[in-house]
Amino acid sequence: MRSGIVCAAAVLALAVLPVAAPSLARDPDNAIVTTRQAAMKEMAAAAKAIAEMFDGKRAYERAAFKAAAGTLSARTGGALIAGFPRGTVGAPSAAKREIDQARPEFEALARHIGRLADALAAKAGNAPAEITADMRMTGPPADGGSLLGKRPGVAEADPAKMPAEHLLHLILQDCTTCHSKFRRKIE
Ligand code: HEC
Repeated sequence: MRSGIVCAAAVLALAVLPVAAPSLARDPDNAIVTTRQAAMKEMAAAAKAIAEMFDGKRAYERAAFKAAAGTLSARTGGALIAGFPRGTVGAPSAAKREIDQARPEFEALARHIGRLADALAAKAGNAPAEITADMRMTGPPADGGSLLGKRPGVAEADPAKMPAEHLLHLILQDCTTCHSKFRRKIE
């Protein structure tokens, strides 16, 4: 009996898989798209706040740094992936269909930025009252190659050992990498 139910559920699940579904078939009222776009805007505001603190364009405040890094951590990784269920990509959303076609790559990017953001949030949680030299990037960002263009033989550096500013730059790189592949430009 039980296995019959499980089996029926599996068949149902298969039946609703959006194999050739019209775009946004699973988000008719646009709620998923609106929510993830709002999350992206929050990330943009958070990244800008941190960048401006490090660039001296806005006053550094430990609490604000911590809040912004916390937003980046909360909105990346699994939360970012959850914002893009299958069948919710394509117009009128700016999410390209490639997301459903290259799920492993999209999810790997979301997790990669998530690990960087988690490391930044951990650092921000213990941040000093002023920006100290060890929070600053000393050279051009070099992480042993990005996730997608990894140089052979070079292990990826441990995010926990990177200065906060360096982590921010790598995070911004991941935003750009994902957008250039998976986000449609809307004029
Ligand atoms: C793994 C992929 C991925 C990563 C990483 C990513 N984004 Fe996005 N972003 C998208 C996609 C896809 C959209 C289009 C969403 C839609 O319209 O449904 C988007 C949309 C946006 C938007 C427009 C939101 C709107 O109002 O339409 C902003 C702003 C944005 N992202 C900022 C960022 C910032 C800042 C980061 C890094 C901190 C980032 N994103 C990281 C995939 C990503």
